[in-house]
Amino acid sequence: MLVLAIESSCDETAAAVIENGRKIHSSVVASQIELHAQYGGIVPEVASREHLRAIIPVIKQALEQASCSIDDLEAIAATRGPGLAGALLVGYNTGKAIALSKSLPFLGVNHLEGHVRANWLMEEPEPLFPALALVVSGGHTDLVFMKSENEYERLGGTLDDAAGEAFDKVGRLLGLPFPGGPAIAKEALSGKASSLKLPRAWLPGTADFSFSGLKTAALHSVRKETWSPTEIAWEFQESVVDVLSGKVANIANDLSAREVLIAGGVASNQRLREELRSRVSVPVRIPPPSLCTDNAAMIGAAASPRLSRGERTPLNVDIFSTNDWSVV
Ligand code: KG4
Ligand code: ZN
Repeated sequence: MLVLAIESSCDETAAAVIENGRKIHSSVVASQIELHAQYGGIVPEVASREHLRAIIPVIKQALEQASCSIDDLEAIAATRGPGLAGALLVGYNTGKAIALSKSLPFLGVNHLEGHVRANWLMEEPEPLFPALALVVSGGHTDLVFMKSENEYERLGGTLDDAAGEAFDKVGRLLGLPFPGGPAIAKEALSGKASSLKLPRAWLPGTADFSFSGLKTAALHSVRKETWSPTEIAWEFQESVVDVLSGKVANIANDLSAREVLIAGGVASNQRLREELRSRVSVPVRIPPPSLCTDNAAMIGAAASPRLSRGERTPLNVDIFSTNDWSVV
């Protein structure tokens, strides 16, 4: 099944042509990062308007790169939520309009399921179940238990900031460019903290996370002027990586998971990838960085098995903006 997938939940306008949920014929991502960098974060109204400008050229490019036309497509999928409402509406409605005009099946996709399904886009055998999935992005830090391929049970998540959000905010405190995640990772490469020790919120006995105390501690260490931005960046990254990898390793063990699936923009962090692979006792699957940050290929990967099972989203169904695993 050849699916055109569309993603516009935040600051990336993306379209992809995906075959049977696993083969990428094309994946085009138009990033708005430079536009938002001047404001130090994403401005929702600016994002919506930029999606409107980019959506048709991005879809055209995805079709061209896949060497196919709209008439070759067998279904349309678009991110339904969670995300910024005004941003979601652009891709979702464009997808519905194409489906309507060509009488094609249409499916709205949960962005979080999309991130997890990016793990199906690699040339490897399909994941083993039960599996533990961690979605770490700018908007989410969720631990999810997958008893089978289609079951998502949210075990816990962040009680305050998402991991990526903490990276972005601490990046700003350190005077680094937006987004803070890649900037902190780069800064941390040029040194290491000698005496600075930032806190780790373990929240034992839960699958929850908290990064706001760490963020405040980073702020205090900036104000003290004892440590360089490189030292603070290094120790901040170590703290986030320590908690994420430590908790994933323990919970995977407790639940006898046969595999761990990592997803979302923060999963492109090199230190996190290393620590997960060294601490978790079962195989850890992590997509390449281009499939960790927002893209439409992952939306196609999530849509195909559902479309094959006959699932459809009626064209009068609304988008959703809250973090909700039940809407899949
Ligand atoms: O998944 P994503 O593209 O968008 C959301 O759905 O939120 O994730 C974006 C987030 C940003 O917060 C960004 O700082 C973070 O992922 N990020 C990273 C890295 N690359 C992107 N965080 C840490 N290390 C990285 N290398
Ligand atoms: Zn995302």
